Amino acid sequence: MGAEEKAFFRLDKEKCIKCGKCIDTCSGMVLQFDSDGFPNMKEFERFGWRGCWRCQHCLAVCPREAISIFHKNPQDSIPKPPKRMGEYMEQLITNRRSCRRFLKKDVDSEIITGMLRTMAAVPTGGNAQGVEYTVIDDKDRVREIWSIAYDKMEAEAKKHHYTHSFSDFYYKKMKQSEKTVRKGDLLFCGAPHLFIAHEKCEGKWAEDSKVNCNIAAAYFELLCNAYGLGTIIMSYPAEVLNELAPDARKLLDIPQNHYMGLMVGFGYPEIEYARGVQKDRSAKTHRWSEKNK
Ligand SMILES: Cc1cc2nc3c(=O)[nH]c(=O)nc-3n(C[C@H](O)[C@H](O)[C@H](O)COP(=O)(O)O)c2cc1C
Repeated sequence: MGAEEKAFFRLDKEKCIKCGKCIDTCSGMVLQFDSDGFPNMKEFERFGWRGCWRCQHCLAVCPREAISIFHKNPQDSIPKPPKRMGEYMEQLITNRRSCRRFLKKDVDSEIITGMLRTMAAVPTGGNAQGVEYTVIDDKDRVREIWSIAYDKMEAEAKKHHYTHSFSDFYYKKMKQSEKTVRKGDLLFCGAPHLFIAHEKCEGKWAEDSKVNCNIAAAYFELLCNAYGLGTIIMSYPAEVLNELAPDARKLLDIPQNHYMGLMVGFGYPEIEYARGVQKDRSAKTHRWSEKNK
């Protein structure tokens, strides 16, 4: 099968102005000008490093909607963000808060579907797109996982046995928090839903897999906040599932050889914040141009 057939690269020669932007942005370097000056796709061995990266940059960059690839119509792309997006992002990021109290209410299923659709756009190393998303969007299932993990965590704590990052001190502190900030649930904070990005993690790309998962979790957290949902990044609960409560982890249905760094608990927040916090960023910023003035 020829390259153009493999990727279904289609050029509308009526629209193409031979500007070459598609060639200049082709991550896999498989586009070239042919003898009549139009871009075409070179033969390639296979997708990935030996050919087309499936990044669709050619479709995205074309100013004339002349390129289709993988049967995608350029007119179906979601419009570019408005010019003020930078300000909106600043508002979104600075108003993002960890949420440790949730309403006992399911998030509208269509919102979750829309967010997962958006998550297809998250970057991955080499555009390998090996990250999988597990969403436990049924609060009864979350409860089931929670109760096995919670009981196990408590039983182990009685023997002074904790996850690698915990100790008597931290555990006691977390227990106190059940009276206030994590009402009745130091583990999942009562989050009705769980999101986990995970990826088979082995060989020389193992580090990339971990980074991919953590980037995905960060994007998901912001996306939730953009929809007015509360989120809590759960590294300790992930430790409990990985280190203390294998029976609860099994219920996630995530293979044991998959990296599972952070879980993100999400749901409608019980408490609304009136404003953003004012974290001191400049003191921790190492900016070359300012450092060398
Ligand atoms: C890598 C990472 C791990 C975290 N793990 C937990 C956790 O296990 N439990 C928890 O309640 N919060 C966890 N958090 C949330 C932080 O405690 C929280 O971001 C921090 O207190 C600042 O609060 P803010 O998110 O409202 O700005 C984690 C955050 C990060 C970035």
